[in-house]
Amino acid sequence: MKTILEMISEHLSRAFEEAGYDGKYGRASVSNRPDLCEYQCNGAMAAAKEYKKAPIMIAQDVAAALKDDEAFLDVSAAPPGFLNLKVSIPFLTGYLDKMAGEDKFGLSVKEEPDKVVIDYGGPNVAKPLHVGHLRSAIIGESVKRILRYMGDEVTGDIHLGDWGLQMGLIMTELRHRQPDLPYFDDSYTGEYPAEPPFTLSDLEEIYPAASAKSKEDEAYKDEAMNDTFLLQQGNRGRNALWKHIMNVSLPDLKKNYDKLNVSFDLWKGEADARPFIDDLVSMMKDKGFAHESQGALVVDVKEESDTKEMPPCMILKSDGAALYTTTDLATIVDRRDHIGPNRLVYVADKRQEMHFMQVFRCAKKTGVIGDDVRLDFLGFGTMNGADGKPFKTREGGVMRLETLLGDINEEMYKKIKDNHEVEEEEGRATAAVVALAAVKYGDLSNQATKDYVFDIDKFTSFEGNTGPYILYTIVRIKSILSKYTEAGGSLEGLSFNAETGDTEKALMLELVRFNQVIEAAYEELAPHKICAYIYDVANAFNRFYHETRILNEEDKARKEGFLKLLMLTKDLLEESIDILGFSAPDKM
Ligand code: ARG
Repeated sequence: MKTILEMISEHLSRAFEEAGYDGKYGRASVSNRPDLCEYQCNGAMAAAKEYKKAPIMIAQDVAAALKDDEAFLDVSAAPPGFLNLKVSIPFLTGYLDKMAGEDKFGLSVKEEPDKVVIDYGGPNVAKPLHVGHLRSAIIGESVKRILRYMGDEVTGDIHLGDWGLQMGLIMTELRHRQPDLPYFDDSYTGEYPAEPPFTLSDLEEIYPAASAKSKEDEAYKDEAMNDTFLLQQGNRGRNALWKHIMNVSLPDLKKNYDKLNVSFDLWKGEADARPFIDDLVSMMKDKGFAHESQGALVVDVKEESDTKEMPPCMILKSDGAALYTTTDLATIVDRRDHIGPNRLVYVADKRQEMHFMQVFRCAKKTGVIGDDVRLDFLGFGTMNGADGKPFKTREGGVMRLETLLGDINEEMYKKIKDNHEVEEEEGRATAAVVALAAVKYGDLSNQATKDYVFDIDKFTSFEGNTGPYILYTIVRIKSILSKYTEAGGSLEGLSFNAETGDTEKALMLELVRFNQVIEAAYEELAPHKICAYIYDVANAFNRFYHETRILNEEDKARKEGFLKLLMLTKDLLEESIDILGFSAPDKM
């Protein structure tokens, strides 16, 4: 179904034509003077040049042609040539009725859906999840849902960092502690134990200990690099240990992502790219794309139009080891051959922009992926603490995701308990739902590329531009609706009011933007646009609510009109937060 702006533009075009002008000038936009009108058209100004006529005269002609158009309540021409428009209630409620009756509230989904792989999350196995990975998970999950909502066929891949130095560090530390483990005995040919030689909490302690040692002790670090090298070369014992590390870590990672309401279709990682590396490197050599530079193998990716420096894309280090770029290129091969996408979207820290530019250019230049495949990097900014510096614990350490979420849950629980009496268990469950909304909305409401301040007090507030405020609004509507049905009222077959108050109409004018907002969020991969929309809707609803006696309204039809509007408001808000990746409780 057309957007409301497209519908209004159609009326305008017809009027331009009727008045003797080209219909292309009849384009509507949302008013930037809401005190004067709801929509506006600036076409008369543009038409003035073609028709060599004063814009105000053209605007007056068009206004005259619109006089009897039932879509408008008021049309006026304002100097120098604006058309100021107010829509009629039947036009507006006609649109809302259609929205309420259509799938996805009248969003026109893609006629030719794309096949997309979205790469997000990207945690590093065996390293604790920290807040840096929070953004990728939250933004990626929402972008995945936006793409799907528009009809694309989307595969979400977590792309684990499971092949790096952290694995070697763990192995080195383990050898120091338990030198007799068979994994380190190269002459051992028997089967390795099925039980891992460590628990999750061992691992959580081993990695930071090893990482700290390697920073002080060169020899220790060399050992860890050697273990990493052996792992990557296929050493039997190291690979068996690697499997243990994965088996112990992954369930915990899954549990953490579940709590975030973030899920992946594929749990692949850098290690899965291994089988594709050799052929990829040979191809790049054979076809003359790769050349040696200071012992390393590189592909030039500089382009003439570059204004910034663009170093070559490194494929192999001088010791023959593959790099981050190599695994990403090999992963593209894997995705190309096994999924066949025509679009790849990567959600990672914006400081990785250069890396992705190199990978993208190299992939296209060497024909790893066709020119018809769209490659997008969605780089996000840093999450800062109240001091404007990257978010840390009170002690100055890296904040673990679990700790952070735990703190917010606790804060939310206190607020909910203050709000109304609640059983501990129920209160905790509600707190978890609201806390997740607080964190996700706090993140998503900012443009992804920007750094933002993670402010627990602000994010958990029930007022202002926050997740809890949005949920509070939904809960408020739910409670009005259930009061009505509990008193025997039915929500079936209601109609919007044919006459409305100002705040009622203002709410309607916000609601009709839904399809347009989703389209824009899709085009720009911008969940913040959906946040801005639901914030506007929530504000418009609360203004209406504070001025209106809804359930106490004596006129039955009018009351039903209010309830109909409430239902649609609730449905649109709930649909929107689902696309953002969180949900609302029944009470809070
Ligand atoms: N593991 C990486 C990190 O922690 C992020 C992975 C991003 N995705 C990718 N295909 N490179 O920085």
